Amino acid sequence: MSQLISEFQQKYGPWALVTGASSGIGEQFARHIALRGVNVVLVARRLARLTRLANELRETTGIQTRVLNIDLSTPDFLQRIEAATNDLQIGLLVNNAGFTITQDFLDSFLDNQVKLLDVNAKAPMMLTHSFGRKMRDRNCGGIVFVSSIAAFSAVPRWANYAASKAYLMQFGEALAVELNPHNVDVLVIAPGTTDTEFIESAEIEREVNIMQPEDVAKQTLEKLGKTATYIPGWRNRVLSALSRVAPSPINSMLAGRLLRFLQD
Ligand SMILES: NC(=O)c1ccc[n+]([C@@H]2O[C@H](COP(=O)([O-])OP(=O)(O)OC[C@H]3O[C@@H](n4cnc5c(N)ncnc54)[C@H](OP(=O)(O)O)[C@@H]3O)[C@@H](O)[C@H]2O)c1
Repeated sequence: MSQLISEFQQKYGPWALVTGASSGIGEQFARHIALRGVNVVLVARRLARLTRLANELRETTGIQTRVLNIDLSTPDFLQRIEAATNDLQIGLLVNNAGFTITQDFLDSFLDNQVKLLDVNAKAPMMLTHSFGRKMRDRNCGGIVFVSSIAAFSAVPRWANYAASKAYLMQFGEALAVELNPHNVDVLVIAPGTTDTEFIESAEIEREVNIMQPEDVAKQTLEKLGKTATYIPGWRNRVLSALSRVAPSPINSMLAGRLLRFLQD
């Protein structure tokens, strides 16, 4: 175990940056990266939550932490993150922050849909451009993208969300090939429904056997460096395999029905 931890530190340390670290899957990423002895920069909007987590991680694991309460949909978010981390070597970038809007697209507010694209797609792209270059120069590092099984089909009432997750999937898989010769590991994960605040904000039901965010984060860190795409949970793997073989109109109709079923 200690050899695995030391390999992880060497490859992905000394600092990781996790977006959306104030709750759910991102918080679990921060916890399990800290358990592997890598210092963490915690990014999200809710400062009190980030500060509480940072204090706990420092006390329980002895790692260093830095808290950045930054809204990833604001125009200067990258400058602020770069300025606050320019003395740190970020060896692992976890692009996790994201949210959905559960509504017919034309009935939703355009501003909110633009914010969704900013947070779910534009911010990961810009952070990757910035921190990925430094990793490539050092010939070492890792980048994780948190996509979704929604990426595998068009999803009515999640039109922009599913499209943003498909963007991450395509983007990340291409970077995995581009960065492979530079020893930078890229992994795109596609979780299914996971027991986080996302469920309430998406207004969907908690399924029986829903995955826990800790399992998603732990499995992802174990897969990093071994594959470019990972779907946590066998049920999600079956669903995504079916959606890849079904004709696309049927696929999106079924995805829309599944979302409605989860909302009833
Ligand atoms: N839970 C699921 O069923 C599920 C399934 C597939 C994929 N995912 C993906 O998993 C990722 C993590 O979500 P989760 O399930 O852990 O839900 P969550 O508990 O709601 O976490 C979302 C995180 O994103 C952060 N965030 C949202 N908007 C932000 C903004 N404008 N600026 C900075 N940070 C922002 C939130 O922090 P603040 O509110 O403090 O800013 C929070 O830490 C998301 O990308 C989501 O799409 C979730």
